[in-house]
Amino acid sequence: MADISLESYRADYPDIAGDYTVPQRWAAYTDEEHAVWDLLGQRQARLLPGRACEAFLSGLESLGLQAGGIPDFERLSEVLTARTGWRIVAVPGLVPDDVFFEHLANRRFPAGRFIRRRDQLDYLQEPDVFHDVFGHVPMLAHPVFADYLQAYGEGGLRAQGLGMLPQLARLYWYTVEFGLLTTTQGLRIYGAGIVSSASESVFALEDASPHRVAFALERVMRTRYRIDDFQQVYFVIENFEQLLRQTAERDFGPVYQRLARLDDLAPDALAAEDQVLHHGTQAYARARRAGLTGTA
Ligand code: PHE
Ligand code: FE
Repeated sequence: MADISLESYRADYPDIAGDYTVPQRWAAYTDEEHAVWDLLGQRQARLLPGRACEAFLSGLESLGLQAGGIPDFERLSEVLTARTGWRIVAVPGLVPDDVFFEHLANRRFPAGRFIRRRDQLDYLQEPDVFHDVFGHVPMLAHPVFADYLQAYGEGGLRAQGLGMLPQLARLYWYTVEFGLLTTTQGLRIYGAGIVSSASESVFALEDASPHRVAFALERVMRTRYRIDDFQQVYFVIENFEQLLRQTAERDFGPVYQRLARLDDLAPDALAAEDQVLHHGTQAYARARRAGLTGTA
């Protein structure tokens, strides 16, 4: 795990604040950096209609995030604040859990300000501005999702005090990052980790390999995840109101007590009580283990 202390960031970011925010320095982006944003945005623009949910697509469109280069966080925040009260703040990279939760609880979304290089379009070790802003910000324009993410920040501070952070982090992972949604037209993506990835946008919906299971709170919070490859299971919500009811409007105290006595589940496990929408073949994961396909 990289050193994410304030002191270590200060070497490269002398003006880092106590809450880990830094100036975005929008004027310092090069033409090449803006061009990489547009390239990534155009690629996703071709893939996402019919795959991403309406809330994401309309957020993307109305916030003007598809082209026009890396957004200026100040101007973007003005538009977003008027909608849902959220703002975007720049951070140098990963921040400590409590700092992250504190930002979310106050409707500030921390976003990396750097962008990947052209020769690394599909390879990311740490979230960059494309993942953080293109992937996450459109959903922050949706009032119910906006409330969910703020409540999650408050819940994070509580989970930390109870030693239940790994369990709560799984909820973030399988919703905010890798969530799917049912609609009358079929499954759609809302998770930022999917919509910001060309290959996973197709894999998550169309590949036979991963399981697709109806969202159930405790099931999700028991399930480990992989951070270095496509997911082996995606959890599917009915709508954002359901997600909010199951999480923000529920006291997690008893949930944590039950979870403390239950075993974790592997990312490719199915449980007896699962409502399975697609029973995955896990062929992709098996091939990867056998070293038969390329690198991520
Ligand atoms: N309601 C949860 C609790 O009591 C907090 C929470 C809200 C968690 C929203 C996740 C999402 O701790
Ligand atoms: Fe993310």
